[in-house]
Amino acid sequence: MPVISFAPDSGVWLLSTPRTSYALRIDETGAPCHLAWGPRLTLAEAEEFATPPVPADSSFEGRPPSGEELPVDGGTRYGPPSLQVRFADGTRAFEWETTGHRVLEPAPGESELVLEFRDRHYPLAVSLHYRVHDHCDVIERWTVLRNTGAETVVLQRADSAAWTLPPRDDYRLSHVTGQWAAESQLHRERLAFGETVLTSRRGVTSHHTNPWVMLDAGDATEDHGQVWSAALAWSGSWRVTVQRTPDGRAGLTGGAGHEGTALPLAPGEEFTAPRFAGLHTDGGFGAASRAWHAHVLAHVLPHPDELRPVLYNSWEATGFDVDEPGQRALAGRAAALGVELYVMDDGWFGARRSDRAGLGDWTPSPDRFPDGLTPLVREVHRLGMRFGLWVEPEMVNPDSDLYRLHPDWVLHFPHRARTELRHQLVLNFARREVADWAYDWLTALVADHGIDFLKWDMNRAFSEAGWPDRTDGSDRLWTEYTRNLYAVIDRLRADHPGLRIETCSGGGGRVDLGILSRTDQAWASDNTDAADRISIQHGYGQIYPARTMAAWVTDVPNQFTARSVPLRFRFHVAMAGVLGIGGDLGRWSDGELAEGAALVAEYKRVRHLVQHGVLHRPRGPVDDGPTAVQYTAPDRSEALLLVWRRAPHRGRPRLPVRLAGLDPAARYRDARTGKVHHAKVLTGYGLLPELPPGDWSSAAVHLVREPERRTAP
Ligand code: DGJ
Repeated sequence: MPVISFAPDSGVWLLSTPRTSYALRIDETGAPCHLAWGPRLTLAEAEEFATPPVPADSSFEGRPPSGEELPVDGGTRYGPPSLQVRFADGTRAFEWETTGHRVLEPAPGESELVLEFRDRHYPLAVSLHYRVHDHCDVIERWTVLRNTGAETVVLQRADSAAWTLPPRDDYRLSHVTGQWAAESQLHRERLAFGETVLTSRRGVTSHHTNPWVMLDAGDATEDHGQVWSAALAWSGSWRVTVQRTPDGRAGLTGGAGHEGTALPLAPGEEFTAPRFAGLHTDGGFGAASRAWHAHVLAHVLPHPDELRPVLYNSWEATGFDVDEPGQRALAGRAAALGVELYVMDDGWFGARRSDRAGLGDWTPSPDRFPDGLTPLVREVHRLGMRFGLWVEPEMVNPDSDLYRLHPDWVLHFPHRARTELRHQLVLNFARREVADWAYDWLTALVADHGIDFLKWDMNRAFSEAGWPDRTDGSDRLWTEYTRNLYAVIDRLRADHPGLRIETCSGGGGRVDLGILSRTDQAWASDNTDAADRISIQHGYGQIYPARTMAAWVTDVPNQFTARSVPLRFRFHVAMAGVLGIGGDLGRWSDGELAEGAALVAEYKRVRHLVQHGVLHRPRGPVDDGPTAVQYTAPDRSEALLLVWRRAPHRGRPRLPVRLAGLDPAARYRDARTGKVHHAKVLTGYGLLPELPPGDWSSAAVHLVREPERRTAP
């Protein structure tokens, strides 16, 4: 069956993914209207939805409340507009006129529908893009707007897409909130009537919420029920508005930029909105997460097949106090633990002795690295590890040579304060010369030193976001900044194909599908407390796969919570992602070093499951009882179960953990104990993991399919 089909009589377009369908048509007024999004349909079945509009029964209702593919500000529409324009003569309303369509095959296994429109009178062309993939239920959507006239058109809102759900008795919204060092806290709550706005006005994706939602009718569970989800691929300010109306409908619109900013579109200029991907599943929240993970691995990450190395990062061990002898000593200890990528964090350049000075002066401090970075890089390579370096290219300390030379390069307004956060200001990456400057020093730094990995940090939100050289600067910079950031990273990657990049913004402040399409992993949070980390990782993993989630084992008492938990527990929590170590190895005892080395070796035996396997969440972090995650090989030949228990309680039952996704006819051997279990017992009845007694107890159970003696299915 073709992936994109069209019924000329009814005008219905049907996009089909392996398990879902999405149907739309252009209505009698020329507007692209939504028909259906859910379980798979034939074209004839989808045509049932193309019924004539029911006229509104009062003069207060406006257009019939069916969904539109991109609700505009215009006519009798009163919901949140996805497209809101102001033409040169002050006219604001947009009126659709269809001009054609294209069906493309952008790559093998991908099909794209482009619906083309223009305004009936004014010079604005609009095209709606829908991309579907052969083996994936994610539909990627975006909008392209082009000014075809001779005067500027102002885009007051230019969302990527609007998504419409079918009518239901009730709706529930799942999303994350947070703050620095407490990102990705999952909330699942009844969707309020009216409009619920999730947004970042910070110029960066933000710690405080993340540009994705899941919606269900209030009846979905981890394993069952219909879930609709959408995620925006954008790393600057953004807004997603979820609407619930009294007629039993819900939908959402989302795109780049927050309210109050506008985008001037000069004559001939085009604006391509970021991708806003969506998916439907009837397999509950777990299936939604797995579909997102598969999409990120298949269509987002630049090198999805790679196994990410075990890394060491110096930040919690040394703070800003880095020098060549200290780093050599740490590198030697890291190599002995089995670390494969050694990352030197902040403090290696200019006058950087604290967060007060030096940011922007990207040459190694001569007193700390008298012969530059090359001797340390060589030593790390000699030890058999790759070398990574921390950078924060978008920032400057006012106490720096760069700022003294280019005070105008920062975001600012002429008669306003320049508010410092962490003693730093934001360089205006929207300015071409700033982006070029960053690209020039970064590409030289990587080339001159043979750097394998950059941790790209960004440690403050925007303020006084002005660009005084341009009258339209304070509107343009919100998108231009992010586009230039992307372009610098893309150029760097093209120059250095072996270079890998970690996205970091004070932890998880810039994690989204946009940045992940040009980086290799993300630093999910500065908070490395293993207990706090369980809920952070739970929220992160709703959309983003473990393959992208860097997680370090650090020292106790933890610097955020003063909590002490055993080394084994810390490892087992970090093993749920891309394992890293961030402790002060100079202070680890011989016993800790030996235990650490054994756990690193254990991780290497199972990391293909964590990084490329299929995630199930047998038990979420609901209380201090056990939390369990399972990663299964795509061919079901192996599985890893990680279990963490904060506190045992007398009288509380010890419940078996029911696994999922195993080969039902097979038996699986526990690689540590040698005990063999039937898959049907593991999935139907469960496994009672052996947890050591006491608080902060954990287990990693590696199950390997037995080759022989298959039982009847
Ligand atoms: C914030 C990051 O999240 C930390 O890991 C560390 O790199 C510091 N910045 C360095 O300033």
